[in-house]
Amino acid sequence: MVSLTIDGKTVEVTEGTTVLRAAEKAGIHIPTLCDHPHLTPYGGCRLCVVEVQGFRVPMASCMLPVMPGMVVQTDTEKVRKARKFVLTLLFSERNHFCPFCQVSGGDCELQNAAYEQEMTHWPLQPNWTKYPVDSSHPYYVLDNNRCIVCRRCVRACGELAGNFTLGIAERGARSILVADYDVPAGQSSCIQCGSCVQVCPTGALIDRQSAYRGHDRQVTHVPSLCVGCSVGCSIDIQTCDNQIVRINGDWDGAVNHGVLCKTGRYQPLEEKRQRVTQPMVRKNGNLEPVSWDEALTFAADHLKPLKGKADDGVAAIASTRLPAEALALFQEIFADDFGSHMVTSVEEGVPTAVPTALAEEMGHSFEGKIHSLENADCVMTIGANLAESHQVIGFMIKRILPKGVNLVVVDPYENGLDPYTNYTLKAQKGSDLDVLEGLAAAVVKLGLAKGPRP
Ligand code: FES
Repeated sequence: MVSLTIDGKTVEVTEGTTVLRAAEKAGIHIPTLCDHPHLTPYGGCRLCVVEVQGFRVPMASCMLPVMPGMVVQTDTEKVRKARKFVLTLLFSERNHFCPFCQVSGGDCELQNAAYEQEMTHWPLQPNWTKYPVDSSHPYYVLDNNRCIVCRRCVRACGELAGNFTLGIAERGARSILVADYDVPAGQSSCIQCGSCVQVCPTGALIDRQSAYRGHDRQVTHVPSLCVGCSVGCSIDIQTCDNQIVRINGDWDGAVNHGVLCKTGRYQPLEEKRQRVTQPMVRKNGNLEPVSWDEALTFAADHLKPLKGKADDGVAAIASTRLPAEALALFQEIFADDFGSHMVTSVEEGVPTAVPTALAEEMGHSFEGKIHSLENADCVMTIGANLAESHQVIGFMIKRILPKGVNLVVVDPYENGLDPYTNYTLKAQKGSDLDVLEGLAAAVVKLGLAKGPRP
């Protein structure tokens, strides 16, 4: 642990922590713009400067690792002046007169920072260049006139989604946000996950679906789980006037840590479907809304006579989009209580049949934790196109590849991860289990087996 003093408070943090995070831990606020807790520090905006005893100039706290005995001041005349200067330059570089910007009035971090630093004007002549607004993308509008080049979106695209579509062209004050080699965003390699929009601190990336439909302080935040696939991403559903305004990934989500795919973020806003708000029972061939009591009694009356008659063919099929707790209960009711030999899910098929068959051969369940991907040095996917379904897992794989992780895709069909692989095995359809057995045999033959699992 490292002990340091921030604004007279003694703080203990682990080695490698930045001064900014140490201050947060001590409940001390330092203004930031380019920093984002889920992205690698970049140190581009310099708003987070602090004075450090023994240092000649104010230092960017988001990049500065703590040192034993460090003495930091976060709110001196010198740092206030430096922060105002940073904001002055930012307001002089691009047109941030924002009466029409959808984030103006509460959601713009630049505007909020200016209010916080009590800016009333800036003493420099504006040096604005007019940039064309790119509205070619189906889900967001890219407006370089609002951009502060904090690169949060660039980092989110690479570090969260593993897609590396966004980048910065030109240098210095001419720097602009571009997609691929400066093609219209709608024609780029963007996979439409919206991570860039979620982290943008200004109105440079405007979400088309939710624009002008409510600021953060006007919406109701409802924590929930995405049912777009069986990954189970945590989401923050924001509603206003009884309408879904936007869906963000929940940064505290245990599985996705704030990341979402296109399906989770945008599909529920696009679908104008009628929501089912009540249980229904089929009467005379038609589904009719009933009370929960009536629905549960109906289900119980029909299930009770089947108890213990597994041989009479009780099959139970669940959606894998249910939470793990619900699936466990489902299994308990039908497999344990009813003795059904057929408790399965709608996603049964190659992706689940192969691991199930392998698990039977190995004599133990074939399980893995999503977060073991973070420490993997090789990832193999079999029979799953993670660029199409369960995309968040695909992101987690793609984003570790720059570390030198090897990717092997086994799929007889075209697979969205094919361009990223070290090895692609186009095995014959239905031969996935044979491929696995062959690989397992090779592992044993080469003496690479680590022995049975405990
Ligand atoms: Fe530290 Fe931008 S927040 S330099």
